[in-house]
Amino acid sequence: MVALVVQINNKMKPKYLNIIDNSAYLRNISYVDLAKQYQTPLYVFDEIELRENMDDFLTHFQSADFSCHTVYASKALLIPSIVKICKEKGLYIDAVSLGDLYVIKESGFPMNKVVFHGNNKSIEELKFAVDNKVIIVVDHLEELIDLINYCQENNQKAKTLFRVNPGIEAHTHKYVQTSLNTSKFGESIYDNERINLIMNCYKDNKNVKLLGFHSHIGSQIFEEEPFLLNVRKMMAFSKQVENLYQYPLTTINFGGGFGIKYLETDAGLDVKSLLPKMVELVKTLNKQLNLRIKDLFIEPGRSILGNSCVTIYKCCDIKENINHHKFLFVDGGMADNIRPALYQAKYSADIVMKMNDEKNEIYDIAGKCCESGDILAIDLRLPKPDKNDYLMVYSTGAYTYSMSSNYNNMLKPAIVFVSDKPKLVVRRQELKDLMSLYK
Ligand SMILES: Cc1ncc(COP(=O)(O)O)c(C=O)c1O
Repeated sequence: MVALVVQINNKMKPKYLNIIDNSAYLRNISYVDLAKQYQTPLYVFDEIELRENMDDFLTHFQSADFSCHTVYASKALLIPSIVKICKEKGLYIDAVSLGDLYVIKESGFPMNKVVFHGNNKSIEELKFAVDNKVIIVVDHLEELIDLINYCQENNQKAKTLFRVNPGIEAHTHKYVQTSLNTSKFGESIYDNERINLIMNCYKDNKNVKLLGFHSHIGSQIFEEEPFLLNVRKMMAFSKQVENLYQYPLTTINFGGGFGIKYLETDAGLDVKSLLPKMVELVKTLNKQLNLRIKDLFIEPGRSILGNSCVTIYKCCDIKENINHHKFLFVDGGMADNIRPALYQAKYSADIVMKMNDEKNEIYDIAGKCCESGDILAIDLRLPKPDKNDYLMVYSTGAYTYSMSSNYNNMLKPAIVFVSDKPKLVVRRQELKDLMSLYK
């Protein structure tokens, strides 16, 4: 029998997804076989696609006039296998906690290429960052004072960026908007009083150097304009500070937030078109404003990982309630993907072995946690699954495992990277792991 192979090219699904005899494959690797071998739920990443996504940033965020650095925003997923790929490709990595810094260091990454974020860094975290020559993104005035005190008392030096809010309203969920003047992150570029205090701390300080400013305008942004507006505002603000305080600035970090498709109807964002425009705009404004910016940073997270991964679940019972509303129960849920419960994130999905079947049923995909909000997708059109079929939820690479929990003592799933063959990069938790912390 000749197998029918259809290669799908839809950005929200893995780029190299194939359908062979009505069943989903990643190139020639069967998702059903992976699910059987590694158990479900299971995160399956296409390592080839995620490497290509990194290459897209490295290729298109580049210029003869600037040193352009892509920082992988590791909050999307921080595991040693990703850290190693970042190292190999020459990316920087960001971190948000001592735990992040520790995992990055233990994974063999050069610590002078780590950018340390966080709105509430402890002295212990600042100390670790300084001692390891990490670039620190200072969040607010009081943190800067702590850092200066530590460095002065210990005769240490630190390179910093300072996080500011340029007050840009990007059209995204309010939980992932970060640059409004009401945000908990950074200091407003319009707060002259605090900016004055901050710059007076930096001025003439021999221990703590300000390279430039950082802003991150939010996540899952589809329009180009907020990114370009961010460039304009950050360049103008840098000029204003340089003029007022005669402090030479060399660097700007524009953050991440590049949107990806989760649904057919999502617009998506073409970073290959946007990134050269951002760099070109910096170049023009650098000249116009007579600035000497030479180092540019961006921090993509979701756009590197998101679409390269699917989560496979086992289909369990179908329950039809009194209103004829149908729930498809799966063997995972909010413990492995909190995003729908946290901020109403939407997903699309298919039944792995019924890829071409008519989608003539409508289900809410319900997890098995003890919360009514544990619904992975609402009103999803699918073929009717048989019990023990597998459901494949698309675009689950970012902010899923990294936000996973042991709620209800659910076991954290395994992660498999697939290139020419599958490779287990994170093992599935076992029952005995659940008892490992208890005294
Ligand atoms: C400071 C900072 N940089 C980068 C990112 C990455 O954003 P994204 O994954 O949307 O690219 C985030 C996400 O929250 C962030 O807070």
